[in-house]
Amino acid sequence: MTPINVLTQTSLSNATVGHPLEPLTADEVRKAVEIVRKSGKACAATRFISIALNEPDKTSTQGASSREAFPREAFIVLYDRAKNACFEGIVSLKDERVLSCKHVPGVQPMMTVDEMIECERAVLDSPEFREALVRHTGIADTSLAMVDIWSAGYYGEAEESERRLVRPLCFLRADATDNGYARPIEWIRPVVDLALMKVVRIEEYERVPIPPGESNYAASRRTSFREDIKPLEIVQPEGPSFQVSGNAVNWQKWSFVIGFNAREGLTLHDIRYRDGDRDRSILYRASLTEMVVPYGDPGPTQRRKNAFDVGEYGMGNCANSLKLGCDCLGYIHYFDAHLCDSKGEPIVIPNAICMHEEDFGILWKHTDRRLADSPEVRRSRRLVVSSISTVENYEYGFFWYFYQDGTIQFEVKLTGILSTAAYPAGKSPVHGELVAPQVYAPNHQHFFNMRLDFDLDGRANTVYRVDVTPDAIDENNPFENAFQARSTGLKTEKEARGRLNLESARTWKIVNPGVRNSVGESVGYKLIPGDNSIPFGSPNAWWRKRAGFVEHHVWVTPYSADERYGAGDYPNQSAGGDGLIRWTERDRPIENADVVVWYTMGHTHIPRPEDYPVMPTAYIGFSLKPFGFFDANPALDVPPSDRGEAKKSCSHC
Ligand code: CO
Repeated sequence: MTPINVLTQTSLSNATVGHPLEPLTADEVRKAVEIVRKSGKACAATRFISIALNEPDKTSTQGASSREAFPREAFIVLYDRAKNACFEGIVSLKDERVLSCKHVPGVQPMMTVDEMIECERAVLDSPEFREALVRHTGIADTSLAMVDIWSAGYYGEAEESERRLVRPLCFLRADATDNGYARPIEWIRPVVDLALMKVVRIEEYERVPIPPGESNYAASRRTSFREDIKPLEIVQPEGPSFQVSGNAVNWQKWSFVIGFNAREGLTLHDIRYRDGDRDRSILYRASLTEMVVPYGDPGPTQRRKNAFDVGEYGMGNCANSLKLGCDCLGYIHYFDAHLCDSKGEPIVIPNAICMHEEDFGILWKHTDRRLADSPEVRRSRRLVVSSISTVENYEYGFFWYFYQDGTIQFEVKLTGILSTAAYPAGKSPVHGELVAPQVYAPNHQHFFNMRLDFDLDGRANTVYRVDVTPDAIDENNPFENAFQARSTGLKTEKEARGRLNLESARTWKIVNPGVRNSVGESVGYKLIPGDNSIPFGSPNAWWRKRAGFVEHHVWVTPYSADERYGAGDYPNQSAGGDGLIRWTERDRPIENADVVVWYTMGHTHIPRPEDYPVMPTAYIGFSLKPFGFFDANPALDVPPSDRGEAKKSCSHC
């Protein structure tokens, strides 16, 4: 048997070396909380919403590798329940003092995991909820009820928007381990004030019977499995090809730093590629900044459903602890995540981030029929860095891939359980699909906003929109076959707002105009879109006003340290208009500047019965491909699998 291939954090890391962009350690989280408490900025009514590294100034970290020279600071968000007030502050870990702490008026910070748990308890314990349940089902025992926290959103109801509210969805398990999402309680919608942790009211709608069936996916509830699967083991007898020091990673010619925080979850920093004797910068920071999942059903129990999973729930808060051989296969290096709960107690999510190598088929190949030793073929290997978050019913896997040819790919894996509703027997829905008898799944979309802080061979970069268009039909195009890629330099933020265009196979190219390749062109990378959509909710839909980042697929801004999240800093219960839509109104110049490219991608989900009771994974993502960044295929030096080192890892070529 192959030994279990797990590298512990300590076996490869060197505790004395740290990169200034590495996330806070467990000790630093603990220390930051202590400093805040000692300063008197936190009282009994305070919830710690998040504690993360206050990332050092960008200019100071260029080429840096040692933590010693950088002041380690924590960025904290606090919520005072008694005052219903949000505060944000900066803590110096070195000087052990709070450098700043300011009240942020009129906002609600994201929800915490503690609030999700306490909210469920508050609903289940409320006499009003029990009475409503008895009235409609005859069931007095609430122990089988599930209460999923759902953000309250914003619908122009000013009074409600001033309270810290949520509107949970409720389900009823058939037994203690049943899949409750098979049995939605459609007619009851509690409204809970999280500051008071009390049910404000129970809204009751037209009664729809609880669906009759059960539907479970757990292995423990199956009586049979398919029996024709033979073991598939990934063997790396000499270990992996990566090196890890703290959270800094080297893999073949790639290097980068892995970050993590409660809001964005997995982040990547200082991504570089060693090209001969040049250590070339590509991206300074890459992250998912926001999400929105708008549902398309106008019915009274469904129309308020839209989740901003990053800014309202926190992808890091909701991150899973990953398991070898289940979530990840092969020789794995895990990274733990260090957060705190809402009381400020440190939390470790063991194995929150998984890193491993994967065989990825053919990297390149050519057969020259005239040559005896042909074909030439190389196998592709990619490095995978991933984390998975569970936001109540849904699962999102975030996967960054690094390839030997200089490509970086990001992919979201969508799985988990559909947001279900009960539906009257004998009727067919028009805004969604029946996935089982009387179980309805409304149509919805998932929009993801990515922030890509490019530093191609330095800070001064320019972005081009590239459209492929056919030539005019004239004497220069006698066979009418001609087409060309036309690049439009984007000079200002408004000019850069753009959508995909199938008619011109549109892509975007980021270049450094000051650095030329061997054919005299500016070195560059291309953003290659994947699956995408436009929003189907009206521009006046409340959710869409709050999610301005869905208005365009691509945005370009000049780097600004405080522009981090596509829908603004505090989207929870926001009235909208913040984030990209606001910043880019300034129409700042972006030519030959330190640019940040923002990419919004949307997955339109028309549910299917096959998505039930648990969804086979759906994928959406994009690639960043070198485009004249290198002088030729950078993977020419990957050895053939039938020779040298590579042979040992490939037994069948
Ligand atoms: Co979906």
